[in-house]
Amino acid sequence: MPDWLITGCSQLLTLRGAVPRRGRTLTELGIIRDGALLLHDDRIVAVGTRRHLERSRESRRAEKLDLAGRVVLPGFVDSHTHLIFPASRASEYEQRISGSTYEEIAQKGGGIRSSVQALRRASAKELKVRALVALQQFAAYGTTTIEAKSGYGLDWKSESKILNTLYELHQEQPIDIAATFLGAHAVPPEYKGRADAYVSLLTRKWIPNVAMAGLAEFCDVFCDRGSFTVPQARKILTAGRACGLVPRLHAEQLAHTGAARLAIEMQAASADHLEKVDDADIRALALSNVVCTMLPGCCFHLGLNHYAPARKLIEAGAIVGLATDFNPGTSPTLSMPMILSLSCTQMRMTPAEAISAATINPAYSLRQHDRIGSLEVGKYADLTAFDVADYREIPYYFGVNLCGLTMKRGTVIHSND
Ligand code: NIG
Ligand code: FE
Repeated sequence: MPDWLITGCSQLLTLRGAVPRRGRTLTELGIIRDGALLLHDDRIVAVGTRRHLERSRESRRAEKLDLAGRVVLPGFVDSHTHLIFPASRASEYEQRISGSTYEEIAQKGGGIRSSVQALRRASAKELKVRALVALQQFAAYGTTTIEAKSGYGLDWKSESKILNTLYELHQEQPIDIAATFLGAHAVPPEYKGRADAYVSLLTRKWIPNVAMAGLAEFCDVFCDRGSFTVPQARKILTAGRACGLVPRLHAEQLAHTGAARLAIEMQAASADHLEKVDDADIRALALSNVVCTMLPGCCFHLGLNHYAPARKLIEAGAIVGLATDFNPGTSPTLSMPMILSLSCTQMRMTPAEAISAATINPAYSLRQHDRIGSLEVGKYADLTAFDVADYREIPYYFGVNLCGLTMKRGTVIHSND
C-alpha cells in the first residue's frame, strides 16, 4: 500500500488523551483545525495541522487524499449488536403501535423466540448474505468496528452456525467483528420451565466448547425480568470467565434486578441498557471500570420515555458508551449518527460527550483501545468523514446520512463521491 497524506479536514477530531473518558474528559475531542493525517500501510504515522504535515519528506512522496473540508473523526465503535438474525419483526412493531407491550408479545411466543424459530430454519449462507448487506451499511454510516452477539439460535447447531458465520465475516470483509456468546439470550423452547437445566448445559458444555474453539471473546447474559435471574447470570458469566471469555451483561432494561451490581462484581467489560438503574447503582458503577453502554435506539423504537440516566452517570464519573443494539426486536438501526442524535436530544448528552461515548470508550469496552477509538500515531487508520462544517452537526442533523467517507485500516470502504 502507498503512504497516504489526508488533508482537507476542517475539524480533525483526534480523541487523543485519557482512556477511558469520564466526566469532563468526555468533552475533550482533541480537535485540530485544518488537520491532516499521514498513513503508512494500515496505521497512522503522523497527525497534525496540514501546514505542519505537508512540510515532511514522507508527506511529499505520499499519495494525496483531500477531504474537501469535511469533519473527520475515528470510525464509530459499535459495542453492542445482534448482527445475525433471520428477518425483521415488523409485525410486532405494528402490534406494539396498537397497544401490546414488548414483554406481552414475548410471553405469547413472539419476540426473541420468533427470531429463534426462523433462524434455526435459515441456512448459514442466507444469514451471511443478510449480514454482509448490514455490514456495508454500518460502513456507510461511519462504523468501522462492531461487537456482535449470538443468541438467536439457542441450540448448539444454530449457535455455532451464528458464531462460525461471524468468524467468516470477520475474515472476509473489512469491518472488525468482536464476537460474544449470548447463549443466555432466552430459555429455548426445549427447556421451557427448566431454566436451571439450560444454565447447566451452558456452563458445562457450550461455554467451554465456544471458548475452546476460539469462537468468541466475550460472554453475555440477558439478565432481566422474564429472562435469566441474577444468580443464573452469575453462574454463566463465572463459567465464561473461567474459560477466558470476558463478561458483558444486558442489565436493568425492563426492570431493576440487581444486574448492574452483578456486572461490577464480575468486573464485566460493559453493562448495557441501564434504563432502570437507581442512584446507588450509579454511584457504584462510577467507582468501577465497567463501561455503562446506553442503547437509546431501544426506547425510541419501543416508543418508551425511560431513557438511561446519561447525565447522572456522567456527573457521577461513570465510563459511558453508546451503541445501536442493532436487532430485530427493539432497535432495528445500525446508524451510530442516529444514536448520537437520540443521546443528545433525549438523554441531554452534549455532542462532544456522545462522540467520546461512540469511539474511545467503546474501544475500551472491547479491549481494543490500544489500536482503535482515537486518531493517534501507531493506531489503525480507522476513520470517517462527515459532510458537515462543525462536529456538532453530526447529531444535529437526523434522518439523513451525512457520512461521506469511511476508511478501515487505510482502505476506503465507503465513499459517496
Ligand atoms: O438488546 N434484550 C435482549 N436483547 C435485545 C432484544 C432482542 C430481541 O427482541 O430480539 C436487546 O434489546
Ligand atoms: Fe441487546
